[in-house]
Order: sequence, then structure tokens, then C-alpha cells
Amino acid sequence: MTPCSPTVRDVSSPLAALLLGALLASPAIAHDPVHPEAWPSARSPALRTPAIEARVEELLARMSVEEKVGQVIQSDISAVEPDDLRRYPLGSVLAGGDSGVHGDERAPASAWLDLVRAYRAVSVEARPGHVPIPVIFGIDAVHGHNNIVGAVIFPHNIGLGATHDSELARRVARATAEEVAATGIEWAFAPTLANPRDVRWGRSYEGFAQDPALIARFAAAYVEGLQGTAASGNAIQAGHVAATAKHFLGDGGTFEGRDEGDDRIAEAELIREHAAGYPAAIDAGVLTVMASFSSWRGAKMHGNADLLTRVLKERMGFDGFVVGDWNGHAQLPGCFRDHCAAVLNAGVDMLMAPYGWKRLYDNTVADVRSGAIPAARLDDAVRRILRVKLRLGLFDAERPYEGRLDLLGSPAHRATAREAVRKSLVLLKNDGVLPIRANARVLVTGLAADDIGAQCGGWTISWQGADTRKSDFPNGESIFAGIKAAIRAGGGTLVEARDSEGSPKPDVAVVVYGEKPYAEMQGDLKLAIYNARMALDEIRFLKGLGIPVVSVFLSGRPLWVNQEINASDAFVAAWLPGTEGGGVADVLIGTADGQPRHDFAGTLPFDWPSVALLPPLAAGPAQQAPPLFAHGYGLSYGHPGRVPRLPEVIGTPR
Ligand code: BGC
Ligand code: BGC
Repeated sequence: MTPCSPTVRDVSSPLAALLLGALLASPAIAHDPVHPEAWPSARSPALRTPAIEARVEELLARMSVEEKVGQVIQSDISAVEPDDLRRYPLGSVLAGGDSGVHGDERAPASAWLDLVRAYRAVSVEARPGHVPIPVIFGIDAVHGHNNIVGAVIFPHNIGLGATHDSELARRVARATAEEVAATGIEWAFAPTLANPRDVRWGRSYEGFAQDPALIARFAAAYVEGLQGTAASGNAIQAGHVAATAKHFLGDGGTFEGRDEGDDRIAEAELIREHAAGYPAAIDAGVLTVMASFSSWRGAKMHGNADLLTRVLKERMGFDGFVVGDWNGHAQLPGCFRDHCAAVLNAGVDMLMAPYGWKRLYDNTVADVRSGAIPAARLDDAVRRILRVKLRLGLFDAERPYEGRLDLLGSPAHRATAREAVRKSLVLLKNDGVLPIRANARVLVTGLAADDIGAQCGGWTISWQGADTRKSDFPNGESIFAGIKAAIRAGGGTLVEARDSEGSPKPDVAVVVYGEKPYAEMQGDLKLAIYNARMALDEIRFLKGLGIPVVSVFLSGRPLWVNQEINASDAFVAAWLPGTEGGGVADVLIGTADGQPRHDFAGTLPFDWPSVALLPPLAAGPAQQAPPLFAHGYGLSYGHPGRVPRLPEVIGTPR
């Protein structure tokens, strides 16, 4: 039987559950036709082993409807106390971007560990009528263990994509997993496998690249970095955590790059541009997939049974579980934050219900009793969740990495991050000013020069990543500090802006500037342009004094910066490099006799726009201006090149 055959196999199959659901309850959510056979196939390895399946069935047989419903609900730590798990045996808790330990985003790592253990202890305690099943704790560790003070923050995915080095991405993910596991947390909501087709989308930096083949390569490596290789067959939690391929599907394909928007594209394009990462992640053993907030041709992904069940679970053979996104179920017509059968019936296995989850629990129990949610569908969801928990080794007492808080910000992890920063830098222009001699007089200036928060961007300490302070990064180094160290070591002089008056002219100025931190929704743009005047004025002022200028541009995406490029003698796209600012100095600052210490290795993971007025990709081929620099572009010391003067009128193609 083909995986997409509509024949009912047994009542526990997802498809049977679905058909039953459609018959018994909510009318199926209408969406465009899907052709599962046109999609790539894949298969989850080492998840449905006979040993795991036997344990799953044994547990399931003892669980009440209430206990099963508990498993399919995840609440946020800001709205659930460990004690609540006695009355409501939830399967999972998460720490959202703005949630800290008892409201404290800057709680020490030891407090996070205590919190995780407190939830876990209640979930596994022996009580009458309760089957002890460890709760799974999830967090957005999307560029390192980024909610935790002291963790190493790695470049956001766009920077990793620029390295084109998936083995490096694997090591980054491995280091992230160790820091997450050290705090007792078992599940990272990463990697994002979006293909951002319009960089005005504020989440563009969460995507690795615009090339589906590269996304697929990174997907596999990143999942294996977080989880270990599936082939080992070992319990995963020894220094590893569950990964999440997100957001299924088409999060990066929305009209005009609008967050949570609508993909107005044909099925063939959805497959070609947006699906590539998933088969690779599934074959690599990814344990969870997160549904996308976005819609496809007007229908919300959370309700799309054909894509979630027939494509993802059947055609792509995904045996783990699908988690919904933050209250994503509430966005479906006829659904509410505290009541929604349709999303579970469509194939989401766990609802991310940060708050309002108590009534959701009661309503879901009632829906199962009335048949609005078929018992077989609930059982299928619970089976998938238990399978993941067993595969992870959550039932095992031994957790060798838990409590090893020395791993947070460890020298080894910092070295990996610094290497990633070095390799992620893309040299757009260099008229010969780089590399800077280590014995030169160097002025380092610009609003973001000494600002680790700006280097890290969104999803850092808080959701949007704004309002961080120096003390949030005890193990970090700013770009300024990194250059200072390199110049001091090389016998040069660091000139600070405030003491530049009256003293001899600097040989060169490094100006660091770029986008301020942002995350979901708040990062969307109408135009793909960087339009803060301050940096440009500063560059022009320095040039007026006869000082050559190197621009280091921090951004979550390529933006129209023709004026800044023209005004600068060298221009480096540094993306959102994270806490290891020293990696920038490694490449910019050469030896005292002007030889490079490290060459540029990064190339553009996305086209760099030549116009700001037209959407670079979404406008349709006829209206698209050719990119200023196509993806794959990047100069180096070994392969220099000249960039002609660029047009400065917004909207004029090169
Ligand atoms: C985001 C997800 C994230 C979740 C939990 C959602 O708003 O879309 O990517 O994992 O919140 O913070
Ligand atoms: C949470 C994030 C979440 C977002 C979605 C925020 O309050 O902290 O984790 O992704 O809301 O709306």
C-alpha cells in the first residue's frame, strides 16, 4: 500500500483517525488540493523500534482520557506551577522568549535547572491514578542557549548559512545541545528550515539560505548536532536534546514577507522552495516538527490535514510529534485559545497553549468524550509523544550532562562560536584597506561597536532581544573589544572616538552599525532598506578628514545600503554574529606587516538587493531587478575584486 492510499488500515492510523474525525465532528478545514505523491518521501529512523513501541503500548493502556489529554497540551512556565501538574498532568512545558524563572529573565542557570527539576518531579511522582511520565521541557535555543545569561550566543542561522559549512553548523548545534542539556532542558525549538523568499520578513535571519539544497544539507547536520546521529540507537539525552524542524510549512513564503502571512503560491513551488529541509531533517531523525503560523492559499497550516498528516506523517514518514506554535490553534476559524478540536484532528499532536490551557484541557477532555476528537486520533498523538520521550531517554535516571553548568560559555564552545563568526563574514567591497595592519592607529566607532546585544539580535535573553545590557553577556566580547585586543597584541594603537581630537589622525576607522534587535512580527519591513542616517553621516565625516573607512554592517538580512557601500573603502556583512565579536578582528586585523591572519570564507546566502522599492523576490520574475550581488558572492584576500560606484537613487537597479 502506498503511504498515501486512502484505504483505512487500522483504527490507530492517523488517516483513519482523520476520516473518523471528519465524519464525527468538525467539518474538515477547506484548503487547496494536495498531491502527496508529488512530495519528496522520507522516513524517521530508529524511532518506532519494537522495544519503544512495546513500552508505548504498555503506558497507553494504563492511561485515562485525562492523562492522555494532558500529554497533548504544553503550557508556558509563566502560567503553570509545578503543583498544577498534579491536577493537570501536562505532557510539556515551554519557556517562551519572554519567560524567565519566576518571571526573572536573568535568573542564574542553577535556577533554571531547579525549575526544570521541579516540573519533572511532579510529573514522575507516584500517585493513585497517575502513570508517571516525565514532562518534556522546551525552549527556543535557536542560536545557542540564548535565553540564559552566560550561554554562548552563536551567529543566527543566516550567518551559519554564509559559512556554507554544514559541519561547522553541526558543531554549533552540538555545543548548543550541551548547554541546553546542562540546564536540564530536553528540547530545543530549532532549527528553522524556512526559505525566506522576501527579506522584508522579520524572521529572515532564522533561515540558513535561499537555496533549498543548502537548507537541506544544514537541516540534517543541525538536527544531528542537537540530537546525535539516529544510527547510534542510544538514548539521546546524553549531551543532546530533541530538535524541532520548524515551521511546517512555508513560513518564509508569505506574501510581501509578512510574518504569519499567506503563501500565495502553487503546490509545486511550495514543494520546490519550502519543503526541502524536512525530508533531510526526518531522515536525520528529527523528533519534532512545529506547525507554521502561516497559511497556504488562504488556509492556516495548523488546520491543513493533508499537509500535516498525508504529506508530513505519511508521505514523509515522520514518526515523531507535531507541536503547534504559540496559540496557533486559536487562529483557526471556529477555534479559540481554550477550545479547538480541529487542530488536533488535522494532525497537530501537541498544542502550544502558553496560557488559558486549563480550560483548553477541560474542553479537550469533553471533546474526546463527545467524539469531536476521535479517541484514535488522541491515541495516535499520545503514542508519538511517548515515543519521543522514550527515544530521548527521559525515563532514564541517568543524565550525565545535567547540572554541568560549567559548560555554559565554556572555552571550547566559545572557540566554535568564534570560528563560526570568522567564517560567516562576507566581504562585499575592499578597495585595499583590509586587512588592517596590527600596528596601525585604529579608530573603532559606530553605534553598535561596543554592543553585544546588537551583535546578537532577536531571541537573546528576551523575545525581541532589545534592552539587553553588558552584564547579560559575562562570557561575551564586543567587536570593539575584539579589535582592541588584536591591535594591542600587534603593537598598534586603539583610538577611541572621544580622544581622537587633537591626537594624530587614525590610519583607518572601523565603523560598526546596523539593525537594532528584533524578532517575530516587529522585524517586518515595508522596504528592504537600511535608512538610519547616523552611520552614513559618520562615515562621510571620517572620509572628509581623509581617514579610510571599513564598514562592519550588522543585520538580519541583506538590505539596500548603496550609499554606505559607496562611502566606505571596505564593506563587511557580519550578519548577527553573537557573543564572539573577536571573530571579526581575526579577519579584519592582519599581522603587523599587513598579511592576513585569516581570510574571508563567507559568501552571500541570499541575493543582495539592488533596489529598495521593489520586493526583491516576491514581485514576480518580470518585475524583478537583478540583485546587486547574487547569492554566492563574496570577495576575499585571495580573490579580490572591485566594486564600481553604485547608483544612489532608491529604486534604480544597478
Ligand atoms: C514562534 C516559534 C517559537 C515559539 C515559542 C512562536 O511565536 O513562532 O518559533 O518556537 O513562539 O517561543
Ligand atoms: C513569547 C514568545 C512567543 C511570542 C509569540 C512572546 O510573548 O515570549 O516566545 O514566540 O510571544 O507571540
